[in-house]
Amino acid sequence: MAKSKTVWFCKECGNESAKWMGKCPACGAWNAMVEETVVTKSNNSASAGGRARSLLDIENPRPVALKDIDVTAQSRIRIGNEEVERILGGGLVEGSMILIGGEPGIGKSTLSLQIPLHCPELRTLYVSGEESPRQIKLRAERLSNGNLHDNCLILCETLLENILQQAKQVQPQLIVIDSIQTIYSEAVESSPGSVSQVRECAAMLLRYAKASNTPVLLIGHITKDGTLAGPKVLEHIVDVVLQFEGDTRHAYRILRSIKNRFGSTAELAIFEMRNNGLREVSNPSEMLIPSHSENLSGIAISAMIDGTRPFLIEMQALVSTAAYGTPQRSATGFDTRRMNMLLAVLEKRAGFKLSAKDVFLNVAGGLRVNDPACDLAVVCAILSSNFDLTISSKAAFAAEVGLSGEIRPVSQVEQRIAEAERLGFETIYISSFNQIQAGSRFKRIRVVEVADIPELCRLLFR
Ligand code: TYD
Ligand code: MG
Repeated sequence: MAKSKTVWFCKECGNESAKWMGKCPACGAWNAMVEETVVTKSNNSASAGGRARSLLDIENPRPVALKDIDVTAQSRIRIGNEEVERILGGGLVEGSMILIGGEPGIGKSTLSLQIPLHCPELRTLYVSGEESPRQIKLRAERLSNGNLHDNCLILCETLLENILQQAKQVQPQLIVIDSIQTIYSEAVESSPGSVSQVRECAAMLLRYAKASNTPVLLIGHITKDGTLAGPKVLEHIVDVVLQFEGDTRHAYRILRSIKNRFGSTAELAIFEMRNNGLREVSNPSEMLIPSHSENLSGIAISAMIDGTRPFLIEMQALVSTAAYGTPQRSATGFDTRRMNMLLAVLEKRAGFKLSAKDVFLNVAGGLRVNDPACDLAVVCAILSSNFDLTISSKAAFAAEVGLSGEIRPVSQVEQRIAEAERLGFETIYISSFNQIQAGSRFKRIRVVEVADIPELCRLLFR
């Protein structure tokens, strides 16, 4: 007979407890315990859980000597999308499990449908628990301009056991699950999306992936505060975690790798959402720097690096007299606390009276930056708007600003200079403490070294 009991799971780490606790004893997260009902069936092995397991028919593994393991078979599968291949470290690895997270409407379903559509030789099983076959077809027609091939199979199903059974019959080379929160297993009694369901389904799919050498792409929802929903164990068991970032009101989307067992996590890909899907942006700088020709005040260009990729991005500031007693400070795409710190530095070390001014800061393209090398461009944009004096649109900046107003060196400065030079910039301002690697020569760009804010003002706003 089936017995049901109430247990508490930690949303963060999936830890199980018999009673509610304010703090999870395993991971220390506060207020993360959620109540779930778990039914334990007496004849468990023969029941649903057993059914899923029997579908996998996995033999018990035996220990093997490390040197005897054959790795030649582990080739990368090309998926016809260069940007995604690059952040994966050169293509899909057989038997790997990839989790894609991101806000609703950011393009997770679009990207995971676009991959099989643009790769006719890859037999894909696209499992959707969120959309109907009709909806998927309409989207697919938009994405492929009506050229559909017959290697992309759609299955609208949420029961894991049925999905595994179909996968066994179809023998796909790639499985997409949209989304892991809608899938449920008969073996677990709680509702889809609950901690125990997500954990169980992901574990079962992982066993399928490893046993059949099929890559599995999971789509995951994220919570209000931007972390992947469901237990942290999900992030632990998958091989790769990719996160979609960006503002859904803007066209640009960033896909960032935050965990990768087969490559670097310092990679990111930029996409542009078009009416026929996500277009790969292989040269981001050209889209993020100004489209206006004349010089405007309040604009400075930063040579930043995200991951391993240098690109130039426009920082826009507006400084105006405060209408109320407390001046407003707001930043989009940049850390507001860091902006306040930079304003305090300008106030204290360089004598600018910004305390009675409203300051607004915006990073072009809806991107979020957190490279410290953007400090200098932020400071320059604020000063430019404050004085209403323009900065040449052919000047770029790459340095960090310290608390005493000193301009500090940043890493990989050669790459930043080279990117600015390639894009036709005439001057780049860097810290005078930055050591440029011997042997790097920049012919078409003037490298100006500055030591502190007063010197910068003398150079820019004479
Ligand atoms: P979607 O992939 O459904 O988001 P998610 O699965 O992450 O929730 O993204 C849909 C958004 O993208 C939707 O707001 C419409 C837009 N979109 C386009 O602009 N062009 C397109 O070709 C497609 C398919 C979607
Ligand atoms: Mg979706």
